[in-house]
Amino acid sequence: MLKIGTALRIGTVHVDPPLVLAPMAGVTDRDFRLLVRRIGGVGLVTMEFISSRGLVNGEKRIVDLMHFSEEERPISIQIYGSDADTMASAAREVERRGSDVCDINMGCPANKILKGCAGAALMRDLKAAEKIIVAVRRAISIPLTVKFRLGLDDDRRNYLELGRVCEANGVDAVALHARTARQKFSGEAEWRQIAELKEVLSIPVIGNGDVNTPEDAVRMLGQTGCDGVMVGRGATRNPWLFRQIATRLSDGEISQPSWEQRRDLILDHFRTVIEREERKMAFYKLKNFTGLYSKGLPNGLSLRRQIHGLPHPESFLEAIERFFEDLIPRAA
Ligand SMILES: Cc1cc2nc3c(=O)[nH]c(=O)nc-3n(C[C@H](O)[C@H](O)[C@H](O)COP(=O)(O)O)c2cc1C
Repeated sequence: MLKIGTALRIGTVHVDPPLVLAPMAGVTDRDFRLLVRRIGGVGLVTMEFISSRGLVNGEKRIVDLMHFSEEERPISIQIYGSDADTMASAAREVERRGSDVCDINMGCPANKILKGCAGAALMRDLKAAEKIIVAVRRAISIPLTVKFRLGLDDDRRNYLELGRVCEANGVDAVALHARTARQKFSGEAEWRQIAELKEVLSIPVIGNGDVNTPEDAVRMLGQTGCDGVMVGRGATRNPWLFRQIATRLSDGEISQPSWEQRRDLILDHFRTVIEREERKMAFYKLKNFTGLYSKGLPNGLSLRRQIHGLPHPESFLEAIERFFEDLIPRAA
């Protein structure tokens, strides 16, 4: 079906199209993953990252996050932590719950995670990273991936070494967010380094960072030779992005969603949030997603300003309706 970009296989899992929804804490929850799946074009969706310790201790909040539906498959669950035995137990639980893929986070730059010597902190200590990879690989038989960055900072760019450690220890694919941890999200992702990683590894390499349009995805595949493209923030601004990329990859005609389609998607999503979540969490999610969905929309800032004073979750629905009334031309 695809004209460019080979199909992506992660162990036994076929990722077709070779497009992956990036793990995003507070974003890629069950509702958002389903929404992206239903629009189509995504080959693999990833859950928000899961604390290995929280999972092993059976913390309710963590266990609740782990629910997914058959419709989301194939799905990858990402775990983080610094202790190899705990990570292995968490990975076993990920497998037991029927995830298609288990992913290890070695790229998170948040201070809270770094202090616990997890996430990108593991790039400071490749022996510790290797110990975790070996323990998790032994613990599970489902495909295993590792997601990491270029390194901790410009002086410590050891993504090629970490890639080799992954390959040598039975990891099925790696994903590279082509920035250092120090950069967090600043500057531009350096796709050249994705090409370098691809050159030294024979397992699949998934490129990540700054893919915001179908053209970006085509350029990343072409310039780096990567096996798959992972998209994060671009999909929150435009949940149709995967479908558009898939269409571009098969040489089809790309269509833009209408204002009505955008409005209906947001309203459907928000109704589900209001129905499912308790009030405090509903407020948090509605604010967060209003911010994400309205980025780049005409007058989006005025909507973002309004939401701080909204009295109850249902008032988000009214605010969204009003916002789109100004954008949708009225029938004559
Ligand atoms: C709100 C937010 C939450 C994120 N949470 C995670 C996470 O839980 N695990 C992870 O590996 N990366 C996380 N990331 C990083 C993304 O997976 C991705 O690597 C990054 O956003 C770059 O891709 P993009 O330019 O397509 O957004 C997060 C990014 C954002 C914006």
